[in-house]
Amino acid sequence: MNGTFDAEGVRRDALAAIAAACDLAELEAAKAAVVGRRGTLTAAQRSLGALPEDERRRTGAAVNAVRAAVAQAEAARRAELEDERDRVVLAQEAIDVTLPPRTPPRGALHPINETMDAMLDILVGLGYRVVTGPEVESDWYNFDALNTPVDHPARTLKDSIYVRSLVDVPPRADGTTGILLRTETSPVQARTMLAQPPPVYVVIPGRVYRQDTPDATHLPMFHQIEGLAVDTDLSFTDLRGTLAELARALLGPETGLRFRPHYFPFTEPSAELDAWHSGRWMELLGSGMVHPNVLRTCGYDPEQVQGFAFGMGVERMAMVRHGIGDLRLFVENDLRFLSAFA
Ligand code: DAH
Repeated sequence: MNGTFDAEGVRRDALAAIAAACDLAELEAAKAAVVGRRGTLTAAQRSLGALPEDERRRTGAAVNAVRAAVAQAEAARRAELEDERDRVVLAQEAIDVTLPPRTPPRGALHPINETMDAMLDILVGLGYRVVTGPEVESDWYNFDALNTPVDHPARTLKDSIYVRSLVDVPPRADGTTGILLRTETSPVQARTMLAQPPPVYVVIPGRVYRQDTPDATHLPMFHQIEGLAVDTDLSFTDLRGTLAELARALLGPETGLRFRPHYFPFTEPSAELDAWHSGRWMELLGSGMVHPNVLRTCGYDPEQVQGFAFGMGVERMAMVRHGIGDLRLFVENDLRFLSAFA
């Protein structure tokens, strides 16, 4: 600056640059070029001191006039650019609430669990408590405690799945370890009675295992629900009433029922219950009065208390409820099958 401050030139350039700024960053740069540390106006201001008195006053006034004009133009352009920026941001962030939602696929209970829940609901409603027991079981609970003879065929490797033991157990005469995947939920009857005094009203849901090749009507793993009631003055009538209630709640109030004499080692007398369904008698469950030997083994006095018990397959009930013809569908995890229950 050589004393002649070109106020008109600085103002023209500054206002042109401000008007040309396309965004807030460009506007900031245009402003800095005039009033920033290295700005033209700042330089003019700095050199005022070297000017003679009257020229200093004139130039000082011119500098201030340009500064005011620049500030005003800058503020006006800033307001425009901020408006523009807000419009763009609002448009970008807008949410169209009229778009159809993306519905996540809905899961469903597995039909076995759904059926098991329905069966347990009914029994819990009758006053039973749900208890569970281990799937890896000793042959004492699975057979001996349940009055099963040592030579009963169910004990053999042909029917039961024995497991290797992690601890050293002396080999049995029958060649098994005596540790097996439970073949029924009945051992939990013995576990329950050994753990508490009467009265007992329990239902026992769970998986059971047998040596079977999978086909439409067999699986090596399936589910049972077991019931056990022990109290004073329980008779076969109570068993009949309880099972009729359960069967009719599951299959409909008009369902025809019949008891057939049967044999189980742990009940005497024993009976199977059939239900009239789809034009034929269908076997529903096994049941009976708890054998005095079982009560005695579990520390109960058969002179003081009586009991009844029943056990039923969940898969069979699920097949009836849902009209399913092949057991293998339950374990194949084919979504086309499972999503039908959603
Ligand atoms: N445990 C028997 C089975 O798997 C079913 C059964 C029958 C259970 C009679 C019982 C019962 O509690 O009393 O075939």
